[in-house]
Amino acid sequence: MNKKNTIKSSSNTSFISSNIIAIRSGLLHFINDPAKVTNISNAYQYFEDGLLVIEHGCVKIVKTFSDSDVSQYENIIDHRGKLIIPGFIDTHIHYPQTQMIAAYGEQLLEWLETYTFPTERQFKNKGHAKVISRFFINELLKNGTTSALVFGTVHPQSIEALFEEALDKNMRIIAGKVMMDRNAPDYLLDSPKTSYQDSKNLIEKWHNHGRLQYAITPRFAPTSSPEQLTAAGKLKAEYPDVYIHTHLSENKNEIEWVKSLFPERDGYFDVYEYYGLAGKRSIFAHSIYLTDKEWGAFKRTDSVMSFCPTSNLFLGSGLFDLKKAEKNNIRVGLGTDIGAGTSFSQLKTLNDAYKIMQLQGNKLSAFKGLYLATLGGAQSLSIDNKVGNFEIGKEADFVILNWATTDLQKLRYQYSKNLEDKLFALMMLGDERNINATYVAGKLAYSAEVTN
Ligand code: GUN
Ligand code: ZN
Repeated sequence: MNKKNTIKSSSNTSFISSNIIAIRSGLLHFINDPAKVTNISNAYQYFEDGLLVIEHGCVKIVKTFSDSDVSQYENIIDHRGKLIIPGFIDTHIHYPQTQMIAAYGEQLLEWLETYTFPTERQFKNKGHAKVISRFFINELLKNGTTSALVFGTVHPQSIEALFEEALDKNMRIIAGKVMMDRNAPDYLLDSPKTSYQDSKNLIEKWHNHGRLQYAITPRFAPTSSPEQLTAAGKLKAEYPDVYIHTHLSENKNEIEWVKSLFPERDGYFDVYEYYGLAGKRSIFAHSIYLTDKEWGAFKRTDSVMSFCPTSNLFLGSGLFDLKKAEKNNIRVGLGTDIGAGTSFSQLKTLNDAYKIMQLQGNKLSAFKGLYLATLGGAQSLSIDNKVGNFEIGKEADFVILNWATTDLQKLRYQYSKNLEDKLFALMMLGDERNINATYVAGKLAYSAEVTN
């Protein structure tokens, strides 16, 4: 029986495989932001018939295939006619919301009350957290995502479960326990003291363990008291290389609420900056409605935005201004924001991103889109020294894509004009069905062709 399958690693002793792997395929990766080059050919490298060689889990060679390679390498895996790109990077996703994706009819604040909080309550039970973590990691791999910045719930055991599962698959996961001490049901609240201590314990245990890193995760300003935000800032000062991961200016009612809760602060971003939570490793999901002063503050602090197209459309939140972020030189990554987002697929996410740009009179080229989903995401998370493209020595996280799987894709592919047109069709029509295989640190982690 031919069955789609995620391949389980047999041991955790080493996060990289030692053998040499050589793959012949089309290859594409980015070396610059397409928006920042005068000539687009300086943004990417493309090898129509390429060779990717992996040694000890890292990229060793990327080049055009030549006949002499056949004698050089014992076994060349033949993926001619497919396209290899770096693994996708998801810069904002909630794993506990996997089970409640596609919840009907509400915008942000009502959606949180009606669906999200009752769902997150279930993660008090570590057994449940383990089951959903396993499903979540497999779903990422099936969609070609190899790195992600992830929200847990308020329960430390939600993050224990996720990290255990991610370690087993050797994923590059940055995650944190949610800090929330007010304006939510009692069953989901911690306190400034317990949130500080629980987060600290998780940092000590997990940060930089294998490919795992920690993010201090206040849910959003309305659910944290000033005392809790002070505790989060203290933790960040004690551990400067951990991340800050939160939400910002997603919904107009949310913004009004923040104003009423923090009248002494000069807007929403200022709440976070005041408590020491802005900076190079601070990722603010959504960032839709920003004042000029806030755009300036992003720039000044080198903070990062996560653009979450399917979520912003699903919750009716608004339109992210990617062009303005480009003009202001602000780093932006792409986020699925499951479960307000409606797909794990970065291809589907780019489809909605394109439409959000169109609604603002702008364009999103396939080059820019695929850059955002790979190197752009890595730069946003400050992991571009490790992943994001096929620079020699980087960890070999990559996806083997089928250009066309459905009849419609095949027809469109047949009539495509050039590389950019083919990539655009893939970005607009593609989804997890286009993922042929996913490799994590040089090891096959998912194959659509594995026989069970
Ligand atoms: N703001 C605060 N919490 C959440 C959440 O879980 N999802 C989204 N999209 N926005 C939030
Ligand atoms: Zn979110």
